[in-house]
Amino acid sequence: MASATQHNSAMMAVIDSGLGGFSVLRALLQRAPTLPVVYVADTAGFPYGKRTAGEITARAAGLVKTLQTRHSISHVVLACNTLSTLSLAALRKQFPAMQLIGTVPAIKVAAAQSQSKRFTLLATPNTAHSAYSRGLIAEFASNCMVDCYGAPNLARLCEASLLGDEVSDKAWRGEIAPCFFDDARGKTDSIILGCTHYPLVLEHLRAHAPWPVEWIDSSDAIARHALKDYSVTPGKSVAYVTDPNDVERYTPLFTAEGFAATATLNPAMLQ
Ligand code: DGL
Repeated sequence: MASATQHNSAMMAVIDSGLGGFSVLRALLQRAPTLPVVYVADTAGFPYGKRTAGEITARAAGLVKTLQTRHSISHVVLACNTLSTLSLAALRKQFPAMQLIGTVPAIKVAAAQSQSKRFTLLATPNTAHSAYSRGLIAEFASNCMVDCYGAPNLARLCEASLLGDEVSDKAWRGEIAPCFFDDARGKTDSIILGCTHYPLVLEHLRAHAPWPVEWIDSSDAIARHALKDYSVTPGKSVAYVTDPNDVERYTPLFTAEGFAATATLNPAMLQ
């Protein structure tokens, strides 16, 4: 088994506030099954959906700096829409030599696919109301009616469900019902999964949808982009959580995804 501090050459890191990055991780491994990954779940910072941009940027910068002391990293996939829409530009300035790949809402895809030309961006409150998302809508969906819904607790419900906790039907329904519209301005026919946690619980979202819609997931597009100029060198995958109390609970989930070890990472700037 690999040690959590093992040095691999030019690895790819995947960062999320929790388990949501698994949607991007699985898409990466679908395309490159031997890809070794350093995965960080910033569980001490979870959820990002309600933090300020400054806090999120500082946490992510601290994580990247700490990772650099333990691994040789060339690519960092921000497998979190909240982190990407709020902090990608600032992080690119701070780490100019690093390939930073963001995950942002698939507005362009939804605008092209929607028949009714009315669709919803379902995301964390931060992503749903971000200037980045507004910019994408203005650029790619000016001919559509786009409803942006910031689900207050959905990422938290997803994380809990993935960890094996029971989530009630009422709780799921309460988070997704507000993104369905049928009125004089059209009927919602597509929903953008604007948080990486959501594709992982798609069966629950489908089960509680008032009518069938297209659920738009950008994981594969992100994976394709991340792997574009990356040459895979086989090695051991390592996972980190940032709250030491989470190691025990998260380890079985990381082991199931193929990680050789799970350890704690303290973001440098936050120690
Ligand atoms: N998975 C993250 C995203 O894609 C958000 C979860 C959180 O609120 O921390 O936005």
